[in-house]
Amino acid sequence: MIEAALKAFASGKLVAIPTETVYGLAAPINNPESIKKIFSIKERPFFDPLIVHVSSISQAKTLTNFWSPLCEILTKEFWPGPLTLVLPKTKMIDPMITSGLETVGVRWPKHELTQRLIEKIQIPLAAPSANKFGKTSPTSADHVRSEFSANEVFVLDGGPCEGGIESTVLSVQENGDLTLLRAGLITKTQIKDLLEKQGIKFCFLEPTDKKMAPGQMKHHYMPAIPLVLVSKEPLSEQKILQAVGEKLNSLPEEIEGVRIVRPQKMTKAIEICLPEDSRLAARLFYAELRSKAQSGADLIYIYLKPYFHSEEWKALYDRMSKAASLTI
Ligand code: TXA
Ligand code: MG
Repeated sequence: MIEAALKAFASGKLVAIPTETVYGLAAPINNPESIKKIFSIKERPFFDPLIVHVSSISQAKTLTNFWSPLCEILTKEFWPGPLTLVLPKTKMIDPMITSGLETVGVRWPKHELTQRLIEKIQIPLAAPSANKFGKTSPTSADHVRSEFSANEVFVLDGGPCEGGIESTVLSVQENGDLTLLRAGLITKTQIKDLLEKQGIKFCFLEPTDKKMAPGQMKHHYMPAIPLVLVSKEPLSEQKILQAVGEKLNSLPEEIEGVRIVRPQKMTKAIEICLPEDSRLAARLFYAELRSKAQSGADLIYIYLKPYFHSEEWKALYDRMSKAASLTI
């Protein structure tokens, strides 16, 4: 399968790579035509930078001139794994990959097939999640196949993704300032505890401007029919349909370039019930969104639970809130 993926790259196709978080839509960083193709077939705006995937710490160091003891400690602990470090970039990285930013997001994914592919090709792979812009991320090979044609994308089938939601994105400044740009499977507390234990000086800051976290749109990960978060429990299906019908009409056509989904009719609502274990819930969430969107219902709903506000649920609650058209 690795040979077929290499052939696909050589013929100008993109390769969908399995990772422990979600599938990525990959191209080698030294092929600008293929990088451009990622943005075009994903319909992704050029202002949203791509993560570069490596297969070793030494390869990561070729992408940045900055590698502090803090980077060493974080990567020794969490790589390969769901942590993306945003670091000052070297000139070898095409500005298209970083959307003109002076930084690059780097991570070493934990999936044997993708690790072997990067080792074989010996070039880091730029890859966003393998879904159309603003839509639900893919956690299986079939999810990718349902969205992209085999003429354009070769799917390296590595089975279902274990983590189920995207990596934590952490910006690291040269003075030790850290900014969590996207919550993910590795929590802020895990990062804090590790650095404190090692006696490393650091300071967590909030993102200062939109330019620092260009991909953090208000809406994202949206399924093909509206997802609604329900804050009052229990409501009858009829009540939910009625409340949503009234509210949806007052929403704009699109928010920050992402189209708000509107159903043709409003007769059937279907619930997603997630397990209380946050890791298990994260693994299932995107697959549930996709299958419920295909179920013939007109909208999907999730009852909000008090524990969604706990740290373990932070990343999943973030995805849920962004995937939702509204809360009632
Ligand atoms: O788990 C993941 O991170 C998956 C797998 C495939 O690795 N990838 C992923 O990529 O979620 P994508 O493109 O869907 O999300 C990457 C996020 C975007 O919000 C982007 O704006 C941010 O990372 N990002 C990438 N490079 C950045 C940079 N230099 N500065 C700030 N944010 C950056
Ligand atoms: Mg994405």
